[in-house]
Amino acid sequence: MAKIGILTGGGDAPGLNAAIKWVVKHSIDEGLANEVIGIKYGWKGLLTLDTLQLNERVVRTWDRDGGTHLGSSRTNPFNVKEQDESQRALDNLTQLDLDYLVAMGGEDTLGVASKLFDKGVKVVGIPKTIDGDIPGTDYSLGLSSAVEENRQLINKLRNPAGSHEIIYVVEVMGRNSGYLALYSGIAGAASVILIPEHPFDIGQVVHRLVERRIKGARYDIVVVSEGAKESGKELVVKGSEVDSFGHEALGGIGAYLAREIKKRTSFETRDNKPGHIQRGAPPNAYDVMMGRFFGIGAVELLKEGRIGYMVSLKKGEISSTPLEEIKGSKHVEVASQYDTQRLNAKRTTNFSLF
Ligand code: F6P
Repeated sequence: MAKIGILTGGGDAPGLNAAIKWVVKHSIDEGLANEVIGIKYGWKGLLTLDTLQLNERVVRTWDRDGGTHLGSSRTNPFNVKEQDESQRALDNLTQLDLDYLVAMGGEDTLGVASKLFDKGVKVVGIPKTIDGDIPGTDYSLGLSSAVEENRQLINKLRNPAGSHEIIYVVEVMGRNSGYLALYSGIAGAASVILIPEHPFDIGQVVHRLVERRIKGARYDIVVVSEGAKESGKELVVKGSEVDSFGHEALGGIGAYLAREIKKRTSFETRDNKPGHIQRGAPPNAYDVMMGRFFGIGAVELLKEGRIGYMVSLKKGEISSTPLEEIKGSKHVEVASQYDTQRLNAKRTTNFSLF
């Protein structure tokens, strides 16, 4: 019988608690584990040995809840900025006497898992990020709930937008990948969607909006990804700081765009930035179900001895992907998925469905 450790790293996301619940339940019920612990605050808790005991009673209702009850951090044991603490992570894994580790996260967390696997740690991964940009899987936990949250926000903005003839620029998350913006814009029926994969021309954006007014539109919704940038200009970032994985904090393009549209058209234009609200809701039905499937799938990988893999979704089926293949981020394919004339999603069915 084994001892399993679970951790959640990076930005929290709806569906994580469901995945934790099902790793605990399935590993115990299948007779694989007799002890499961949660490592708190991602890799930080491994470095500080901050853990809690998990069992069926503790996790019974967790699948209903948003966020992660284990806590999370952007700590990187292989810190690119400061000190490499990977040896301490390895020593602490030995001290905890863990047979297996289940790491839930995005490219960063799973990248660390992959490096630890290379050093002999028996680890499997579960994909999680509202950005939807993890290679090797058609779905990562949280994306569907975040799209739903953005759709509801956009539809609420339609009332004041319609009443007062306002153009709303909604800045959504997603880092350098446009999936969250594209899906939110499709679900929210935005008139313009701007994504990082296609630097925009401000004149073209304004032209689209003026054209819509001429055709009778009284207001508009523009969805802009935080990683979108104006052609020939720098990415808009919050400051010069980078995190321990080397990422800049993005944000501000929505406010910039709203100012520019107002200046060039005199239309009342405002920006709205839902920020963490996008990640904050309880999981929707899809993320509860995917949390369950990914949790069970991760335990099945351990049972089969398929260590060093991430459980994944491929063409509608639960599958697996070697952790070493999770390098960098997936991107919207402009040629087939984005309409550079309309500045919106291409009118095609060429989207991986989840
Ligand atoms: O990766 C998830 C994400 O929400 C990104 O979309 C966003 O850029 C980033 O995390 C925000 O990070 P933080 O929550 O640390 O501000």
